Amino acid sequence: MQIVNTVCELRRAVKIWRSAGESVAFVPTMGNLHAGHLQLVRMARKNADRAVVSIFVNPTQFGAGEDFETYPRTEREDQEKLTGECADLLFQPSVTDIYAPDAKTTVTVAGISDWYCGASRPGHFAGVATVVSKLFNIVQPDSAFFGLKDFQQFTVIKTMVRDLNIPVEIIGVDTVREPDGLAMSSRNGYLTDDEKRVAPKLYQSLCAARDVILDGNQTYEEVEQRALQFLQQAGFETDYFSVCRGSDLTKAAAEDVDLVLLAAAKLGKTRLIDNIYFSR
Ligand code: PAJ
Repeated sequence: MQIVNTVCELRRAVKIWRSAGESVAFVPTMGNLHAGHLQLVRMARKNADRAVVSIFVNPTQFGAGEDFETYPRTEREDQEKLTGECADLLFQPSVTDIYAPDAKTTVTVAGISDWYCGASRPGHFAGVATVVSKLFNIVQPDSAFFGLKDFQQFTVIKTMVRDLNIPVEIIGVDTVREPDGLAMSSRNGYLTDDEKRVAPKLYQSLCAARDVILDGNQTYEEVEQRALQFLQQAGFETDYFSVCRGSDLTKAAAEDVDLVLLAAAKLGKTRLIDNIYFSR
């Protein structure tokens, strides 16, 4: 696996593949890789001749007082894992390589960026959309892989690519979970042993809400309220639990068929998000 740190080196490497007619798949990450990330890399490998992975803890998507400084950085382990998955290239730029000190341009996907996680993390999705569009311009991949665990992020990126005619196919990958159902996340490492025992209840609340919706006996508002109550009783500080339309994440109406339930809640200091998508 090649490891490059600058935009210039990255472009040179990809150009060689391009001139040989090879296709390129891309997996952007912030590192501290777990089985969820590696599943994206595996899918990227299958989808194209070459797989590029980036590791960049993007400062612009962290708010003041969030965990940018303490976000886990595990460079050596990450490189070993990516070598094990036969990734072709790891792009690991520094902050100054990605952002000019006087940068003036940002990308914002209106509306959706302000809801759910965007409401409690103002500016987060503008940071994500800006860095992902920059990475797309740097790597110029044919396809890019995103986890459906971050369903709102996935929808923001899909919308951005559509609206700006970015020539890349966005492919969503199912959430990889621990045996107890907890969605894998780099932030799970912050959980104490006690919190780890409670954390799977987030996914349980989503499964239970889905089953109630499929039974058809409660309004979506009732489903949301009951799920919030269940989570609070379990010890979570809840942020939101929303029954949404799968296509655009607006609030679901009774006639909508493709649904996604989005949830976010804190356990101690750790903010967990999860979701479940299904058709009625
Ligand atoms: P990060 O949290 O490192 O996640 C990188 C990719 O891995 C994202 O597409 C995310 O949805 C996916 N992922 C994380 N946990 C997963 C799981 N349990 N199952 C499947 N996929 C999973 O998301 C980001 O980084 C950043 O916002 C980024 C897109 C890189 C922009 O900075």
